[in-house]
Amino acid sequence: MCGIVGYIGYREAYPIVLQGLQRLEYRGYDSAGIALYDGSNLKVSKTKGKVEDLKNRLESEISTKGSIGIGHTRWATHGVPNDINSHPHVSNSGNLVIIHNGIIENYDPLRQELLNRGYTFSSDTDTEVLVNLIEDVKTKENVKLGKAVQIALNQTIGAYAIAVFDKTKPNEIVVARLGSPLAIGVGENEFFIASDATPFIEYTNNAIYLEDGEMAVVRNHKKLKIRKIKDDSLVDPYVQELQLNLEQIEKGGYDHFMIKEIYEQPDAITDTFRGRMKTKEGIIRMAGIDDNLDKFLNARRIIIVACGTSWHAGLVAEYIFEEFARIPVEVEYASEFRYRNPVIYEDDVVIAISQSGETADTMAAIKLAKAQGAFVFGVCNVVGSSISRETHAGAYTHAGPEIGVASTKAFTTQITVLTLIALKLAKHKGKLSASEFRTYLQELERIPGKVKKALESNEQAAIVAKEYKDATNALYLGRGYNFPVALEGALKLKEISYIHAEGYPAAEMKHGPIALIDEQMPVFVIATKKGHYEKVVSNVEEIKARSGKIIGIVTEGDVEVRKLADHVIEIPETLEPLTPLLSTIPLQLLSYHIAVMLEKNVDQPRNLAKSVTVE
Ligand code: F6R
Repeated sequence: MCGIVGYIGYREAYPIVLQGLQRLEYRGYDSAGIALYDGSNLKVSKTKGKVEDLKNRLESEISTKGSIGIGHTRWATHGVPNDINSHPHVSNSGNLVIIHNGIIENYDPLRQELLNRGYTFSSDTDTEVLVNLIEDVKTKENVKLGKAVQIALNQTIGAYAIAVFDKTKPNEIVVARLGSPLAIGVGENEFFIASDATPFIEYTNNAIYLEDGEMAVVRNHKKLKIRKIKDDSLVDPYVQELQLNLEQIEKGGYDHFMIKEIYEQPDAITDTFRGRMKTKEGIIRMAGIDDNLDKFLNARRIIIVACGTSWHAGLVAEYIFEEFARIPVEVEYASEFRYRNPVIYEDDVVIAISQSGETADTMAAIKLAKAQGAFVFGVCNVVGSSISRETHAGAYTHAGPEIGVASTKAFTTQITVLTLIALKLAKHKGKLSASEFRTYLQELERIPGKVKKALESNEQAAIVAKEYKDATNALYLGRGYNFPVALEGALKLKEISYIHAEGYPAAEMKHGPIALIDEQMPVFVIATKKGHYEKVVSNVEEIKARSGKIIGIVTEGDVEVRKLADHVIEIPETLEPLTPLLSTIPLQLLSYHIAVMLEKNVDQPRNLAKSVTVE
């Protein structure tokens, strides 16, 4: 969480840093701040609230001149969101200024030590401790800023991506990372620093992603040197060419990123299987699987680790892998897995699913599994992300940037990748005949068109949304492949509209949740053909008997549920294991419209952040 941006070069830093913060606001948006040096003064402006609030305040508060600057958009960890706790933080001398994404876990004893040495603190943050620790080392040891940062970081426990500069030597910014992402954009006589590459894509296509435990002193007109923080050894910088363009990170005429991303799903799914699926030849090519086929074919079991929506995609994958490949699967919340001393065998394959590729708990679960000898495979969206680099092999979802905090196209493309893997393994294990295999590939090819068709329910979703927007609770029910979709539907509703919602396997309803049902309770039932249809219809009868309001997500032409439900939204028919790719669409649309009607901040819901880099 938190977004950091920096610039050093020949241009005005302010517009670059400000725009960078706007692009990184998905990472945190409870406060924001900028520090600029104009050749004689260090100017810092910060405020509780969004980057827009900062812009309004800053432009009346300080001059925006200067070609070195850093900025921060915060998701609070230590200290409430207020002006004082906002970053950047300045050291006691007034010379050093820092931005930080992460947590310094041992900040309290460090703070105590600094207090004993006469330092004072105005904020409650771990970051103010860090900048003063750096200052203390710099003065005590009489070393340059880079060295002081290195020594100080070696005394810390925790996670960080930092950028710090010294107003008395304003030709360099020192950056370092451990556990939080940091990209350096390399231009001609200029450098850009950011949590991801979006702040600088219109300036340069060349980026260096620092690895954990690395730092760099970024100087005007100088070649970049990267070192290991621990032992000072030099690392060869690896400059990557970015495959990102401006259009991908803009709203393109939509009101919100979320709805843009919902509508991008047909193309995103096509991009996911592009080049991988050869329907005519009846093959699926995926380098990460092909190169490690024996690991998958000989796997004792597959353990899936993920969080949130990615965990829901993992649940769908459990059904698909077990059905097709007949490999036992366990799906674990990464945050629980990492702390519960799980039994992991060397012949287990662990699949880590993460849109951002930065989720701290998923990362820790990967490290644990690797340490115990398992083969770890990543399914990530963000190219070059920490998880994609930490895993032994992987497959990207190729969904393109997902900026709305509520995950949509990441979910459907994760399911697509996982389905491809499951089908491929099933074929190699002889669990699917050639013709069955081809039938699935053909149907997968039709999915983008069917998602388009499902999106035609948008207007109807808006009508249903209007009727239920004032509900205080909602229930989502589904069975089999649609059970994880019910969980995902409930998550979408609660995270952007703040309406309490629960997802349940439809049959579990009678073991408790049925007590909640009355005429006030909207119940979203995913009742598609196949997938235990008759059983779900019986569940719908039970809801009806208790006066619940029924919104059925049904297959085109459905008759039974239509007779019982207050509303139905139709989706095209498909093969049962592919249903989640379609049944999730109306639920995304419903949540979106409800949140818009309630005037909530759809793309940046309260208390959330897109990339959860703290545990
Ligand atoms: C919900 C949502 C979150 C993420 C979760 C994991 O809409 O976006 O639940 O799915 O924080 O994030 P990633 O996939 O980046 O690891």
